Amino acid sequence: MRINVGNLAVCVWLNKVKTGSSMNQGFLQDVLAGLRLSQKALSPKYFYDEQGSEYFDQICQLEEYYPYRTELALLPDVAQELNQFFTQHSLDNVQLVEFGAGSLHKVKPLLQELPMVREFVALDISGEHLKRASADLAQSFPQIEIKVAQGDFTKPIRLELSEATSIGFFPGSTIGNFEPKEAVDFLRNARTTLGKDSYMLLGVDTKKDRQMLERAYNDSKDITAHFNKNILARMNRELDADFNLDQFRHVAVYNQKLGRIEMHLRSLVQQEVTIAGEAILFDQDETIHTENSYKYHPEEFEQLASSAGWQGEKTWLAPDGIFAIMLLRNAGG
Ligand SMILES: C[S@@+](CC[C@H](N)C(=O)[O-])C[C@H]1O[C@@H](n2cnc3c(N)ncnc32)[C@H](O)[C@@H]1O
Repeated sequence: MRINVGNLAVCVWLNKVKTGSSMNQGFLQDVLAGLRLSQKALSPKYFYDEQGSEYFDQICQLEEYYPYRTELALLPDVAQELNQFFTQHSLDNVQLVEFGAGSLHKVKPLLQELPMVREFVALDISGEHLKRASADLAQSFPQIEIKVAQGDFTKPIRLELSEATSIGFFPGSTIGNFEPKEAVDFLRNARTTLGKDSYMLLGVDTKKDRQMLERAYNDSKDITAHFNKNILARMNRELDADFNLDQFRHVAVYNQKLGRIEMHLRSLVQQEVTIAGEAILFDQDETIHTENSYKYHPEEFEQLASSAGWQGEKTWLAPDGIFAIMLLRNAGG
Protein backbone atom coordinates (compact mmCIF):
# COMPACT_ATOMS: atom_id res chain seq x y z
CA MET A 1 0.00 0.00 0.00
CA ARG A 2 1.25 3.47 -0.79
CA ILE A 3 -0.14 6.94 -0.25
CA ASN A 4 -0.25 8.98 -3.44
CA VAL A 5 0.74 12.58 -3.12
CA GLY A 6 -0.26 14.35 -6.36
CA ASN A 7 -2.94 16.97 -5.82
CA LEU A 8 -4.40 15.13 -2.85
CA ALA A 9 -3.26 15.44 0.73
CA VAL A 10 0.48 15.66 1.09
CA CYS A 11 1.38 12.49 2.96
CA VAL A 12 4.94 11.59 3.79
CA TRP A 13 5.76 8.04 4.80
CA LEU A 14 7.85 8.29 7.91
CA ASN A 15 9.13 4.73 8.04
CA LYS A 16 8.88 3.82 4.36
CA VAL A 17 9.46 6.28 1.52
CA LYS A 18 11.26 9.22 3.08
CA THR A 19 11.02 12.65 1.50
CA GLY A 20 11.01 16.17 2.85
CA SER A 21 7.83 17.36 4.49
CA SER A 22 5.89 20.34 3.22
CA MET A 23 3.27 20.20 5.97
CA ASN A 24 3.95 23.82 6.88
CA GLN A 25 3.05 25.09 3.46
CA GLY A 26 -0.15 26.98 3.87
CA PHE A 27 0.24 27.63 7.63
CA LEU A 28 1.00 31.32 7.08
CA GLN A 29 -1.70 31.78 4.44
CA ASP A 30 -4.29 30.03 6.63
CA VAL A 31 -3.32 32.06 9.69
CA LEU A 32 -3.50 35.41 7.90
CA ALA A 33 -6.80 34.51 6.21
CA GLY A 34 -8.25 33.41 9.58
CA LEU A 35 -7.08 36.49 11.48
CA ARG A 36 -8.49 38.87 8.84
CA LEU A 37 -12.04 37.54 9.47
CA SER A 38 -14.44 39.61 11.57
CA GLN A 39 -14.64 36.65 14.00
CA LYS A 40 -10.96 35.72 14.00
CA ALA A 41 -10.49 31.94 13.66
CA LEU A 42 -7.71 29.37 13.30
CA SER A 43 -7.92 25.70 12.36
CA PRO A 44 -7.40 23.33 15.33
CA LYS A 45 -5.09 21.25 13.17
CA TYR A 46 -2.42 23.89 13.90
CA PHE A 47 -2.40 23.01 17.62
CA TYR A 48 -0.48 19.89 16.78
CA ASP A 49 3.22 20.50 16.44
CA GLU A 50 5.48 18.47 18.76
CA GLN A 51 4.73 20.72 21.72
CA GLY A 52 0.98 20.61 21.04
CA SER A 53 0.98 16.80 20.81
CA GLU A 54 2.84 16.70 24.12
CA TYR A 55 0.21 18.94 25.73
CA PHE A 56 -2.56 16.75 24.29
CA ASP A 57 -0.98 13.69 25.92
CA GLN A 58 -1.00 15.56 29.23
CA ILE A 59 -4.68 16.48 28.74
CA CYS A 60 -5.46 12.78 28.32
CA GLN A 61 -4.12 12.13 31.83
CA LEU A 62 -6.30 14.80 33.47
CA GLU A 63 -9.04 13.73 35.83
CA GLU A 64 -11.43 16.26 34.22
CA TYR A 65 -10.86 14.95 30.67
CA TYR A 66 -13.30 12.01 30.69
CA PRO A 67 -13.33 11.31 26.89
CA TYR A 68 -9.85 9.73 26.76
CA ARG A 69 -10.17 7.29 29.65
CA THR A 70 -13.83 6.52 28.89
CA GLU A 71 -13.11 5.53 25.31
CA LEU A 72 -9.99 3.59 26.30
CA ALA A 73 -11.97 1.64 28.90
CA LEU A 74 -14.61 0.73 26.32
CA LEU A 75 -12.17 -0.51 23.68
CA PRO A 76 -11.31 -4.00 25.03
CA ASP A 77 -15.02 -5.00 24.89
CA VAL A 78 -15.38 -3.41 21.48
CA ALA A 79 -12.33 -5.35 20.28
CA GLN A 80 -13.74 -8.67 21.52
CA GLU A 81 -17.03 -8.10 19.76
CA LEU A 82 -15.25 -6.96 16.62
CA ASN A 83 -13.29 -10.20 16.66
CA GLN A 84 -16.56 -12.15 16.66
CA PHE A 85 -18.03 -9.90 13.99
CA PHE A 86 -15.02 -10.21 11.66
CA THR A 87 -14.92 -13.98 12.20
CA GLN A 88 -18.65 -14.31 11.42
CA HIS A 89 -18.13 -12.26 8.26
CA SER A 90 -15.04 -14.29 7.26
CA LEU A 91 -12.81 -11.21 7.34
CA ASP A 92 -9.44 -12.84 7.86
CA ASN A 93 -7.19 -10.29 6.20
CA VAL A 94 -7.74 -6.79 7.52
CA GLN A 95 -5.80 -3.56 7.29
CA LEU A 96 -6.52 -0.98 9.96
CA VAL A 97 -6.11 2.69 9.04
CA GLU A 98 -6.08 5.19 11.91
CA PHE A 99 -6.75 8.87 11.20
CA GLY A 100 -5.22 11.35 13.68
CA ALA A 101 -3.39 8.50 15.37
CA GLY A 102 -1.47 10.61 17.92
CA SER A 103 0.31 8.52 20.55
CA LEU A 104 -1.19 5.23 19.30
CA HIS A 105 -2.61 4.26 22.70
CA LYS A 106 -6.07 3.36 21.50
CA VAL A 107 -5.12 0.98 18.74
CA LYS A 108 -3.38 -1.37 21.18
CA PRO A 109 -6.53 -3.00 22.62
CA LEU A 110 -7.68 -3.59 19.04
CA LEU A 111 -4.42 -5.14 17.85
CA GLN A 112 -4.33 -7.36 20.95
CA GLU A 113 -7.72 -8.89 20.13
CA LEU A 114 -7.78 -8.93 16.35
CA PRO A 115 -5.38 -11.47 14.81
CA MET A 116 -6.93 -10.84 11.39
CA VAL A 117 -5.31 -7.36 11.31
CA ARG A 118 -2.13 -7.93 9.29
CA GLU A 119 -1.30 -4.32 8.54
CA PHE A 120 -1.73 -1.07 10.43
CA VAL A 121 -1.46 2.36 8.79
CA ALA A 122 -1.26 5.38 11.11
CA LEU A 123 -1.77 8.89 9.77
CA ASP A 124 -1.23 12.12 11.67
CA ILE A 125 -0.34 15.73 10.97
CA SER A 126 2.19 15.66 13.83
CA GLY A 127 4.83 13.51 12.17
CA GLU A 128 7.72 13.35 14.63
CA HIS A 129 5.42 12.55 17.54
CA LEU A 130 3.78 9.75 15.54
CA LYS A 131 7.12 8.36 14.46
CA ARG A 132 8.27 7.99 18.06
CA ALA A 133 4.99 6.36 19.12
CA SER A 134 5.19 3.88 16.25
CA ALA A 135 8.62 2.59 17.34
CA ASP A 136 7.06 1.46 20.62
CA LEU A 137 4.07 -0.09 18.84
CA ALA A 138 6.30 -2.04 16.45
CA GLN A 139 8.08 -3.63 19.40
CA SER A 140 4.81 -4.76 20.95
CA PHE A 141 3.33 -6.09 17.69
CA PRO A 142 6.19 -7.52 15.58
CA GLN A 143 3.77 -9.69 13.58
CA ILE A 144 1.93 -6.65 12.17
CA GLU A 145 3.22 -4.52 9.34
CA ILE A 146 3.13 -0.96 10.64
CA LYS A 147 3.25 2.04 8.33
CA VAL A 148 3.15 5.62 9.53
CA ALA A 149 2.49 8.67 7.42
CA GLN A 150 2.36 12.39 8.02
CA GLY A 151 -0.66 13.90 6.30
CA ASP A 152 -3.68 16.18 6.63
CA PHE A 153 -7.04 14.43 6.75
CA THR A 154 -8.97 17.63 6.04
CA LYS A 155 -8.04 16.88 2.41
CA PRO A 156 -8.87 13.71 0.47
CA ILE A 157 -6.30 10.98 1.02
CA ARG A 158 -5.86 8.17 -1.47
CA LEU A 159 -4.35 4.86 -0.45
CA GLU A 160 -3.39 2.14 -2.88
CA LEU A 161 -5.20 -0.72 -1.26
CA SER A 162 -4.06 -4.29 -0.97
CA GLU A 163 -6.59 -7.13 -1.12
CA ALA A 164 -7.29 -6.79 2.58
CA THR A 165 -10.54 -5.34 3.95
CA SER A 166 -9.93 -1.82 5.23
CA ILE A 167 -11.19 -0.69 8.61
CA GLY A 168 -10.87 3.00 9.37
CA PHE A 169 -10.29 3.96 13.00
CA PHE A 170 -11.01 7.53 14.13
CA PRO A 171 -11.01 7.68 17.95
CA GLY A 172 -10.72 10.60 20.35
CA SER A 173 -13.96 12.27 19.16
CA THR A 174 -11.70 14.09 16.70
CA ILE A 175 -14.64 13.95 14.26
CA GLY A 176 -16.25 16.56 16.56
CA ASN A 177 -13.59 19.11 15.55
CA PHE A 178 -15.20 19.33 12.12
CA GLU A 179 -18.27 21.42 11.37
CA PRO A 180 -21.06 18.86 10.72
CA LYS A 181 -20.87 19.57 6.98
CA GLU A 182 -17.09 19.06 7.04
CA ALA A 183 -17.60 15.83 9.01
CA VAL A 184 -19.80 14.60 6.17
CA ASP A 185 -17.08 15.54 3.66
CA PHE A 186 -14.45 13.74 5.74
CA LEU A 187 -16.60 10.61 5.99
CA ARG A 188 -17.36 10.68 2.28
CA ASN A 189 -13.66 11.04 1.46
CA ALA A 190 -12.85 8.24 3.90
CA ARG A 191 -15.16 5.90 1.95
CA THR A 192 -13.08 6.60 -1.13
CA THR A 193 -9.83 6.23 0.81
CA LEU A 194 -10.80 2.91 2.38
CA GLY A 195 -12.56 1.45 -0.64
CA LYS A 196 -15.68 -0.65 -1.01
CA ASP A 197 -16.61 -3.21 1.65
CA SER A 198 -14.79 -1.11 4.22
CA TYR A 199 -15.80 -0.27 7.78
CA MET A 200 -15.15 2.66 10.08
CA LEU A 201 -14.82 2.58 13.87
CA LEU A 202 -15.36 6.01 15.40
CA GLY A 203 -15.26 7.59 18.84
CA VAL A 204 -18.07 10.12 19.34
CA ASP A 205 -18.49 12.33 22.39
CA THR A 206 -22.15 12.60 23.35
CA LYS A 207 -24.32 15.52 24.42
CA LYS A 208 -24.50 15.82 28.19
CA ASP A 209 -24.78 18.38 30.94
CA ARG A 210 -22.87 21.61 30.52
CA GLN A 211 -20.96 21.24 33.78
CA MET A 212 -19.24 17.99 32.86
CA LEU A 213 -18.45 19.27 29.37
CA GLU A 214 -17.03 22.62 30.40
CA ARG A 215 -15.00 21.05 33.22
CA ALA A 216 -13.27 18.77 30.69
CA TYR A 217 -11.96 21.79 28.78
CA ASN A 218 -11.16 24.00 31.79
CA ASP A 219 -8.86 21.85 33.90
CA SER A 220 -7.48 22.98 37.23
CA LYS A 221 -3.85 22.57 36.07
CA ASP A 222 -4.39 24.86 33.05
CA ILE A 223 -2.98 22.25 30.66
CA THR A 224 -5.82 22.90 28.20
CA ALA A 225 -5.02 26.62 28.41
CA HIS A 226 -1.37 25.87 27.52
CA PHE A 227 -2.55 23.63 24.68
CA ASN A 228 -4.81 26.40 23.36
CA LYS A 229 -2.13 29.07 23.66
CA ASN A 230 0.40 26.81 21.94
CA ILE A 231 -1.14 27.92 18.64
CA LEU A 232 0.12 31.45 19.44
CA ALA A 233 3.50 30.15 20.59
CA ARG A 234 3.75 28.12 17.41
CA MET A 235 3.12 31.23 15.28
CA ASN A 236 5.91 32.98 17.23
CA ARG A 237 8.24 30.02 16.57
CA GLU A 238 7.41 29.38 12.95
CA LEU A 239 5.89 32.52 11.46
CA ASP A 240 7.97 35.26 13.00
CA ALA A 241 5.00 36.48 15.05
CA ASP A 242 5.19 38.43 18.30
CA PHE A 243 2.20 37.28 20.37
CA ASN A 244 2.53 37.97 24.09
CA LEU A 245 0.87 34.86 25.53
CA ASP A 246 0.12 36.63 28.82
CA GLN A 247 -2.14 39.06 26.95
CA PHE A 248 -4.55 36.28 25.96
CA ARG A 249 -6.85 34.13 28.08
CA HIS A 250 -8.07 30.59 27.36
CA VAL A 251 -11.89 30.37 27.13
CA ALA A 252 -13.92 27.15 26.70
CA VAL A 253 -17.72 27.26 26.79
CA TYR A 254 -20.53 24.93 25.76
CA ASN A 255 -22.70 26.42 23.04
CA GLN A 256 -25.80 24.39 23.78
CA LYS A 257 -27.74 25.63 20.78
CA LEU A 258 -25.08 24.34 18.40
CA GLY A 259 -24.14 21.35 20.57
CA ARG A 260 -20.45 22.19 20.69
CA ILE A 261 -17.68 23.20 23.03
CA GLU A 262 -16.03 26.31 21.66
CA MET A 263 -12.47 27.20 22.53
CA HIS A 264 -11.32 30.77 22.09
CA LEU A 265 -8.34 32.92 23.01
CA ARG A 266 -9.53 36.26 24.38
CA SER A 267 -7.35 39.33 24.03
CA LEU A 268 -7.08 40.94 27.47
CA VAL A 269 -6.17 44.35 26.05
CA GLN A 270 -6.39 46.30 22.85
CA GLN A 271 -3.20 45.35 21.04
CA GLU A 272 -1.39 44.97 17.74
CA VAL A 273 0.44 41.76 16.84
CA THR A 274 2.75 41.30 13.88
CA ILE A 275 2.86 38.07 11.88
CA ALA A 276 5.45 37.80 9.12
CA GLY A 277 5.36 41.59 8.80
CA GLU A 278 1.55 41.96 8.76
CA ALA A 279 -0.05 43.87 11.63
CA ILE A 280 -3.18 42.32 13.17
CA LEU A 281 -5.28 44.46 15.51
CA PHE A 282 -7.16 43.09 18.51
CA ASP A 283 -9.79 44.96 20.46
CA GLN A 284 -9.97 44.32 24.17
CA ASP A 285 -12.06 41.13 24.72
CA GLU A 286 -11.98 40.20 21.04
CA THR A 287 -11.42 36.47 20.58
CA ILE A 288 -9.73 34.05 18.20
CA HIS A 289 -11.97 31.01 17.77
CA THR A 290 -9.50 28.11 17.88
CA GLU A 291 -11.58 24.91 18.16
CA ASN A 292 -15.05 23.42 18.10
CA SER A 293 -15.80 20.07 19.62
CA TYR A 294 -19.25 18.97 18.48
CA LYS A 295 -21.19 16.55 20.67
CA TYR A 296 -23.72 14.19 19.12
CA HIS A 297 -26.52 11.92 20.27
CA PRO A 298 -25.61 8.52 18.74
CA GLU A 299 -28.76 8.53 16.53
CA GLU A 300 -27.93 12.06 15.40
CA PHE A 301 -24.43 10.97 14.43
CA GLU A 302 -25.74 7.86 12.69
CA GLN A 303 -27.89 10.12 10.52
CA LEU A 304 -24.96 12.37 9.69
CA ALA A 305 -22.84 9.32 8.76
CA SER A 306 -25.62 7.90 6.61
CA SER A 307 -25.70 11.11 4.57
CA ALA A 308 -22.03 10.36 3.80
CA GLY A 309 -22.83 6.79 2.72
CA TRP A 310 -22.00 4.95 5.96
CA GLN A 311 -24.55 2.69 7.60
CA GLY A 312 -24.59 2.24 11.38
CA GLU A 313 -23.70 -1.38 12.22
CA LYS A 314 -23.28 -1.28 15.99
CA THR A 315 -22.92 1.26 18.81
CA TRP A 316 -21.19 0.72 22.14
CA LEU A 317 -22.15 3.18 24.87
CA ALA A 318 -20.07 3.95 27.96
CA PRO A 319 -21.85 3.93 31.35
CA ASP A 320 -24.35 6.80 31.57
CA GLY A 321 -24.01 7.23 27.81
CA ILE A 322 -21.15 9.70 28.20
CA PHE A 323 -19.25 8.44 25.13
CA ALA A 324 -20.04 6.25 22.12
CA ILE A 325 -17.96 4.05 19.85
CA MET A 326 -19.69 3.34 16.56
CA LEU A 327 -19.02 0.79 13.85
CA LEU A 328 -20.13 1.97 10.42
CA ARG A 329 -20.26 -0.02 7.19
CA ASN A 330 -19.53 1.50 3.80
CA ALA A 331 -22.95 1.36 2.21
CA GLY A 332 -21.52 1.72 -1.30
CA GLY A 333 -23.11 3.84 -4.01
C1 LIG B 1 -7.97 14.85 19.73
S1 LIG B 1 -6.42 14.19 19.25
C2 LIG B 1 -6.76 12.43 19.28
C3 LIG B 1 -5.52 11.59 19.38
C4 LIG B 1 -5.77 10.08 19.48
N1 LIG B 1 -6.36 9.57 18.26
C5 LIG B 1 -6.66 9.76 20.64
O1 LIG B 1 -7.79 9.34 20.42
O2 LIG B 1 -6.23 9.90 21.80
C6 LIG B 1 -6.41 14.56 17.52
C7 LIG B 1 -5.27 13.93 16.75
O3 LIG B 1 -5.47 14.20 15.36
C8 LIG B 1 -4.31 14.78 14.79
N2 LIG B 1 -4.78 15.75 13.79
C9 LIG B 1 -5.46 16.91 14.00
N3 LIG B 1 -5.78 17.50 12.84
C10 LIG B 1 -5.29 16.68 11.86
C11 LIG B 1 -5.33 16.74 10.45
N4 LIG B 1 -5.91 17.77 9.81
N5 LIG B 1 -4.76 15.73 9.74
C12 LIG B 1 -4.16 14.68 10.39
N6 LIG B 1 -4.10 14.57 11.73
C13 LIG B 1 -4.65 15.56 12.46
C14 LIG B 1 -3.58 15.43 15.94
O4 LIG B 1 -2.20 15.55 15.70
C15 LIG B 1 -3.90 14.46 17.08
O5 LIG B 1 -2.98 13.41 17.16
